[in-house]
Amino acid sequence: MNVSTKWISWLLMMSLSNRVTLGIYVDEPLLYDTFPPGFVWSSATSAHQIEGAWNVDGKGPSIWDTYTSQPGIVAEGATGQTACNSYYFYQKDVDALKSLNAEPLVVVAFVVVLIYDDVSLVVYCAGTIQVSHYRFSISWPRVLPNGIGQVNQPGVDYYKNLIAALKVANIQPMVTLYHWDLPQALEDMGGWLNASVADWFEEYARLCFTQFGDDVRYGLGVSAPDFLSPFNIVVAAAAPPSPYSQIWTWNVYLSSWPQFDPSPRQSLPTLRINFQTYSTRKSWNRLLNINWFFPGSDQIADADAAERALQFMGGWFANPIFGSGDYPSIMKLKIGEKSAQQGFNQSRLPEFTAEQKLLVKSSADFLGINHYTSLLTVNRPSDINDISYESDQDLYSYYDPSWYGSGSPWLKITPFGLRNLLVWLRDKFNDPEMIITENGCSDTAGNLDDMLRIYYYKHYINNVLKAIKIDGVNVTGYTAWALMDNFEWRAGYNEKFGLFNVDFSSPDLPRTAKASARYLAQIIRDNGFRTNQPCNNYPISK
Ligand code: BGC
Repeated sequence: MNVSTKWISWLLMMSLSNRVTLGIYVDEPLLYDTFPPGFVWSSATSAHQIEGAWNVDGKGPSIWDTYTSQPGIVAEGATGQTACNSYYFYQKDVDALKSLNAEPLVVVAFVVVLIYDDVSLVVYCAGTIQVSHYRFSISWPRVLPNGIGQVNQPGVDYYKNLIAALKVANIQPMVTLYHWDLPQALEDMGGWLNASVADWFEEYARLCFTQFGDDVRYGLGVSAPDFLSPFNIVVAAAAPPSPYSQIWTWNVYLSSWPQFDPSPRQSLPTLRINFQTYSTRKSWNRLLNINWFFPGSDQIADADAAERALQFMGGWFANPIFGSGDYPSIMKLKIGEKSAQQGFNQSRLPEFTAEQKLLVKSSADFLGINHYTSLLTVNRPSDINDISYESDQDLYSYYDPSWYGSGSPWLKITPFGLRNLLVWLRDKFNDPEMIITENGCSDTAGNLDDMLRIYYYKHYINNVLKAIKIDGVNVTGYTAWALMDNFEWRAGYNEKFGLFNVDFSSPDLPRTAKASARYLAQIIRDNGFRTNQPCNNYPISK
C-alpha cells in the first residue's frame, strides 16, 4: 500500500459511519501439506531501516536522512541514524538468519530390502531444508554518495563483506537496488520527476552488477514503485516552499514513468538483461506492493470498484510487464476521461509507444509481491476538482471491523485475501512465476511471546500453500518481513515487524528471537505444515 493510501485508508476507516461489513471473521482450517521442493524461504530488511551509520565512511545523505532530521516529522523524533546499526553489526543479522535454519532437518530413512536370504540396508539422506535467502537492499548514497559519479569504496566493501558473511552461512543474497532512500543530491535535481533518473539509475545498477552481480542470484529493482512519488512529496512537503507540491498530485504517473523509459540508455526495462549479463540469474525489476480488495457489497458497481482498486495498485506495474505491455485499460479510461474534464490537453497517464510496449513486456523473470492486508471497497465518484491518484479511481476502501488488527492502523489480518490475490494475479497476468517478497505483521510491544505474529504467519503462509496446492498458482518463494524490529519509516520505532526483537536501549542492539522466529523456522524445516507440529495442531472446524 503506498503511503498516502495507507493514511487515507486509515482516515476513511476512522471517519466511516456506515460501514459495509463482510461478516464475522472465521479462522480457516489449515492445509497440512508441504511446499514444492526447492521452495525459496527468505526474510527481509531494507538499508535505511536497519543500517544506521548514516554519515560515516563517505556515505552521502538520502532523502530520508534529510527528512528525518527535521523536528516533528517522524513519531517521537525518531531517525534512521543508528537504527539496528547493521553497518557495524551485520554479523548479528547473519547469525539471526542462521538461527532461522538451526538444526537443519536431515531425513534418514532405513529401507530394508529382502533379496532371498540376503538383507541389504539402504540409507537415504534426503538432505537439508533451510532458510535459503536474505533479502536486503543496497543504499544508493552509501555506494554513490552523490547518486552518480564518485564511488564510495567503504560502502562497496560493506556490501561485499555482508555478502561474504552470508556465503559462509550458506544463505543466498536477494538484493533490492532501491528501497526508497534516494540520494539527496539526486532529489535536489528533481529526483524521480527528472527524466534523467533513468540514466542515474542505470549508472547505479551497473555499479551494483559489476561489484556484486557474480554473487547474487536474485536481483530486485525498485521496491514498491508506487511509493516513489508519495515519498517525494512527503519529503518535499516537509520543506516548503517546495517546487514539487503540486507535482505529486498531478504527476504521480509521470514520476513512475522513468521506470519504463526505454530511451537508448534505459534502466529498469533492461535491468534483467544487464543483470543476466553479469550473473545469469533471475530478476524482477519492481516489487509490486499490493493489497487484496473485496467488494464492499454484492452490487456490480462495488465489484467493479474492487477490480479497479486492484488494477490501479497492481496492474499499474504488472500489466505492462506481464500483461498486454500497456497500462490496464481501466486506468487509461479513467485517467483519460478525468484529465479531459479537468482541462488537461492530454491524459495525465503517459502513453506507451508500440516499441516501448515490446521492450517492457516480459522484462522480468518473476513477479515479486509485497503483501500485507486486505480492504473492502465500494464505488464512490470523486470530486472532479480533486486531482489525485486516489480520486482517479472513484472509490473508497475501508476495513471490516471484525478483522483482527495489528500494531499498524493500516494492517488488518486477512490471510484469506492473499490466496485471492495470488489467484487474481495468475489469471490476469498469464500465470507468472511469483515470489512473495514481503509479508509480515506488526505489533507495538515487540514482545518475545508474539502469538499474534505466529497467527499471522501461520495463516498467511498456509494460504500461500493452498494457492499452490489447491489452485495451482506458481509461487516459488516466500519472504517474511522483517528479520528484526527496525526503523518503520514515519512510525519510527513504534510499529515492530521483527521476527527478532532489537533492544534499542542497549548500545549493542542485541537481536533476540521471538516465538514467531522459532515458529517460522519450524515451518521452514518442515517445508510446510504437519499435523503434529504443536502450534499447528489445534482443531478449527468450519
Ligand atoms: C515496505 C517496508 C515497510 C513495510 C511495513 C513495506 O511495503 O517495503 O519498508 O517496513 O511495508 O510498513
